[in-house]
Formats: sequence, structure tokens, C-alpha cells
Amino acid sequence: MRLTLDELDEARSIVARHFGPTPCQRWPLLDAEFGSELWLKHENHTPVGAFKIRGGLVYVEHLLRREPDCAGLITATRGNHGQSIGYAARLHGCRCVVLVPKGNSSEKNAAMRALGVELIEHGDDFQEAREQAARIAVEERLHFVPSFHRDLVRGVATYWLEFFEAAPSLDIVYVPIGQGSGICACVAARNALGLATRIIGVVSAHAPCYSLSWEKRALVEAPARTVLADGLACRRPDPESLDVILASVDEILTVTDEDIANAMRLLFSSTHNAVEGGGAASLAGAIQQRELLAERRVGIIVSGGNVDSELFAAVLSSNWNPTTEPEN
Ligand SMILES: Cc1ncc(COP(=O)(O)O)c(C=O)c1O
Repeated sequence: MRLTLDELDEARSIVARHFGPTPCQRWPLLDAEFGSELWLKHENHTPVGAFKIRGGLVYVEHLLRREPDCAGLITATRGNHGQSIGYAARLHGCRCVVLVPKGNSSEKNAAMRALGVELIEHGDDFQEAREQAARIAVEERLHFVPSFHRDLVRGVATYWLEFFEAAPSLDIVYVPIGQGSGICACVAARNALGLATRIIGVVSAHAPCYSLSWEKRALVEAPARTVLADGLACRRPDPESLDVILASVDEILTVTDEDIANAMRLLFSSTHNAVEGGGAASLAGAIQQRELLAERRVGIIVSGGNVDSELFAAVLSSNWNPTTEPEN
């Protein structure tokens, strides 16, 4: 998926109507911990607390230009994608139905409802919620918003433009992978800007469909059982996203929930940001490669902060014990 700078700038003009660039900064304690320059992009500070809002704003704007009579939107999510679509739908006065699996984050569910989303809990995982959303879309003639789409990637790429422009030439960036919009956006922005930054994808070891697909160089499904990184709980790779990853990403790492819990604690103690599991995966990847990073300029994306209070308290107090084993 190639995106031109003009396409990315157009997306940036849409996002800029709603909020300004998120903070991009170094934190002395993290630099000291790594012996490198660690640049953090704080997408936990968007209006919904995660980067996904950018994709929603651009996707819905383009959709409603094409289909001004659209009866409403429906999608499936573990939370941040749903907040993103809910936020954009509300701006346009558009109905928005969101399917989540049973047992989904209660605070993400509450945040979606607060945006006016009609929330339906269905199925045991994202995939089951998604299939039900597709059925309701047909029955109620709603527009089904996918989790991966060129316009979502285009919107998400706006944070990469901000990041690459604000931080001085990054040697390497670590990017969490759920369905892949974040990492495909990273590839698109890096290529459009003509940069040589290495891109490392970070996958949950308890939801390894993208890392297994990377090894096999073909689409592989795998169970998604992470309990800490719901944003990364993907069972089936998106084929288009996988093509981009196979063609343009330099390396894929897996991190366990325990690695992610350590990264969440480090982020809190060194920056005092509350970061959700998926949002801490980038730093967890960098921790795994710490010895390779001395004196390098490293980009860390803090992709979201929407962690349930109880879970976060348990992680911070070290009471949280991972009950899941890596799937490999
Ligand atoms: C906080 C957070 N980080 C990372 C991801 C993964 O992003 P993507 O699905 O674009 O790969 C998500 C997905 O929802 C997320 O919510």
C-alpha cells in the first residue's frame, strides 16, 4: 500500500481540525535506563486516549463524502477502534453500533457508550463479535467499518508524520501489531518521507498470528489469548496488512504479557503515564533488544492509555500474575 505525501497531508488536515499534534518527547529516566535516546510518541493523549481516533476521523469523513445518505455505521472492536468510530460518528451526527466480545474491558465499553455508541456484547472473541457485526450490517443496512482499510491507515499515518518530523532522524522504531493499521501507517509514512528508519513489529506471544505468518511467509491463524494487551488480540491476520508487513517490515518480535506488564510499570515509574497493555508493547520490544540499542535513536509509540483501573492497579502493585503461556 503506497500512500503519497499529498494523501497523508490531506489526512493530516482532517485530523488537525479536531486536535493538535500529540506530545513527542524524551524522558530522562528512560534515556538513562537504556543508554540511548528514547523518543516517545504519546498517542495516549488524543481525545480518546489512543491513536485509533485518527483513522476513524479520516475514514468516516471520506465515507460520508461518498455516501452522504449513509444510514449509520457498525463495527467490531476490543475498544479503541470502537471509540474512534464512535467519536467520528458523533461529530457527523451519525448512528453508530459497536460489537464487542463478552468480557471486554468495562472502561472501554463505558467510554464508547459515553460517545453515544449502541454497544452490543457478543461472542467469546473479537472474531465472533466481528462476524455478528457483519450480519447485523446486512439486516439493518448499516455501513460495516472494517478494522483495516486504506483510509484508516491514512489517518493513523498522521501520527507517524508528526513523529518523524518532531524527532531527529530515528534509527529504529518499535510498533505494536494488532490488525496492522499502525505498522502499515508507519511503513507508508517512512517511505513517503524517504527515510531509512528500521521498523520492528511487536506481536503478543499470546496472539501470535502475525509472527507465525511472518515465519511462514504466508497467512497463519492462531488463538488470541492475551489478557493484558487486548488491542493486540488478533486471531486472523488481514491479508493486505500482512502483504505490507512481509514486504517492508525489518523484523517481528513477540512479547509475553509478563514483558508487557514490566513495560507498563517502567512507563509509569519513569514517565507517570498510565499506559494500557497494547500501548506498552513497543517499549517491551525495545527492552527485549536493549543491548542492540546503545547510543541509538529509538522511537517508541505509546499507542494507548485505556487500561481498566483494577487491572492497572494489579500490574503496578506486581500482584498481577500472567496465567497465559505463549502460543508457539
Ligand atoms: C493501544 C493499542 N495499541 C496497538 C494496537 C494495534 O494496532 P493495529 O490494530 O493498528 O495493529 C491497538 C489496536 O486496537 C491498540 O488499541
